[in-house]
Amino acid sequence: MCGIVAAVGTQDILPVLVEGLRRLEYRGYDSAGVALVEAPGVLGRTREVGKVAALEAALASRPLSGRSGIAHTRWATHGAPSQDNAHPHVSGKIAVVHNGIIENHGVLRERLESAGYRFDSQTDTEVIAHLIDKELMAANDLTEAVARAADQLDGAYAMGVIHADDPERMIGMRQGSPLVVGIGEQGHYLGSDPLALLSVTDRFIYLEDGDLVVATHGHCRVHGLASASVREGVPVTGGDAPEAGEARQDSDRVRVERPVVRYEHDDQAIDKGEFPHYMLKEIHEQPLAVANTLEGRLGEDEVLVDALGDAAQALLGATRQIHLVACGTSYHAALVARYWLEELAGVPCQVEVASEYRYRRVVAPEGTLFVTLSQSGETADTLAAMRHALSADAATGESPYLGSLAICNVPGSSLAREATLTLLTHAGPEIGVASTKAFTTQLTALMLLTLAQRQVRGGEAGLTARLVRRLRYLPTVLGDALALDGVTADLVDRFRDREHSLFLGRGAHFPIALEGALKLKEISYIHAEAFAAGELKHGPLALIAEGMPVVAVAPMDGLVGKLASNLQEVRARGGRVLAFADPDTGLASAEGLEVVWVPAVCRFLAPIVYSLPLQFLSYHVAVARGTDVDKPRNLAKSVTVE
Ligand code: F6R
Repeated sequence: MCGIVAAVGTQDILPVLVEGLRRLEYRGYDSAGVALVEAPGVLGRTREVGKVAALEAALASRPLSGRSGIAHTRWATHGAPSQDNAHPHVSGKIAVVHNGIIENHGVLRERLESAGYRFDSQTDTEVIAHLIDKELMAANDLTEAVARAADQLDGAYAMGVIHADDPERMIGMRQGSPLVVGIGEQGHYLGSDPLALLSVTDRFIYLEDGDLVVATHGHCRVHGLASASVREGVPVTGGDAPEAGEARQDSDRVRVERPVVRYEHDDQAIDKGEFPHYMLKEIHEQPLAVANTLEGRLGEDEVLVDALGDAAQALLGATRQIHLVACGTSYHAALVARYWLEELAGVPCQVEVASEYRYRRVVAPEGTLFVTLSQSGETADTLAAMRHALSADAATGESPYLGSLAICNVPGSSLAREATLTLLTHAGPEIGVASTKAFTTQLTALMLLTLAQRQVRGGEAGLTARLVRRLRYLPTVLGDALALDGVTADLVDRFRDREHSLFLGRGAHFPIALEGALKLKEISYIHAEAFAAGELKHGPLALIAEGMPVVAVAPMDGLVGKLASNLQEVRARGGRVLAFADPDTGLASAEGLEVVWVPAVCRFLAPIVYSLPLQFLSYHVAVARGTDVDKPRNLAKSVTVE
């Protein structure tokens, strides 16, 4: 998804902007650009289609420099990837970068065209640039003009703005799309993700919706919407005069103090190290990521419910039903959790994709806990579903939900900040677009939630204690499963030249089959479908033809006998089955069936362990097909637009 980097400092900030863009490459994009105030009154801009490397090459032949500037990686929404559509967009002396979608851009464009503005692109962003330029003529103050323009925009956005006549100032604004302010020794920065700015600072302000930030190299002021932030706000009219060079306060906003948060990170976490791809590195990090997710949350024989958060006891104690809502891979984790929560904790569970949930009337019985899962904590649909669910019912004036729990990997993300309770997954930064360690750590957190819920409801303690012991041993089993890297690398010939494949599983391993199919299609571009194996006869069996690759997830889960019969049906029709199986299943390689052993693991934790061979398989097939594994086509890491 689009990425923003902006900076105002005491020295040339072009290197900071370019490094920031490189660090945002993992999000997925199709063009990149940069604009700087080179001298008072002079804006320099360079934009290129393709990778940041192409932009760097262009900058090497036509260098730019300046002490304030904005930069952007664009993931096309309005208009094809092209130089004209790439950001920054310029109107007069203003340059703008923007993430998100302006829903009323059509109306605004017409209005601006009638006012004499000429558009050079098909983007919604150019509307913002012209709107600010128009408002500037009326307001004669950049901050006020940005605020007035923002008031006319519908949709979700984050933006960065500079003005050629104001080389000392940069403005940022957030409404619905993430934006952080980096506080550095040599200046101030904006980024759509803290990762973009870690080369210059580890101190950040996470802006809230409606916040507008005005920064010079020495000062940074955040203005929040008066209605939303008056509790913590300091109205400028209260005598807090603007700094020299800082703009006047815009009428609807007040100065607010936002906390400065130190970003705990480890440099190695965002470095590929010895691995050829982030995805492979992140698959190998799973034993440690899972251990980190368990750290401090397990007692001798039970889950430490209080370690899940201050509100955990009360919230889980009152829970009668759970709604789990997420997108993509996170949705698959939620599907697994439904099996666990219903079987182990006896809590009725409903699971739904966020993009559906947010647009329908959901009947939530009293005592419903709303649970979201998200690696990034910024997925637009998931965030909107949570806000929709927790907003008061129009008829009763109350929300039927007890509150919300966010299972999330990014501290400080919108979801983590807005949820009643946050359970962090501690996977560390996940850079590869295809989610791997975020998924298995989500599953780990969901098992903690399940056991906590079981304990709070007075579930039999013996099984809880056994599962806690096995959880503690889980990182070791995952370490053993890393040996499947080499084994799966030898299996790619079955898939390399195929265009279709099927994945089968039963019970809690049906969602693992769904996740395996998603991994294969997103990075190798092979069409992959997953089915609950019992459904085969109801239609999908028609797809089986000679040589069709079929992947089966076959742990010792009580359903493996049924699964084995389903696999016979596939083999009888010429399908070539690759089964990832527990050695105790009795499955053995034969004509049309290749069995790969997965380390033994108890059936409840098997979904976590069986994820690894499927991730490895997708990875090796994608490498064999020569795709861009870490940045698959058309996809973005953090989906901050609808
Ligand atoms: C697939 C993948 C996506 C994400 C989905 C939700 O490998 O990564 O399907 O799982 O876009 O993202 P988060 O978890 O950040 O909400």
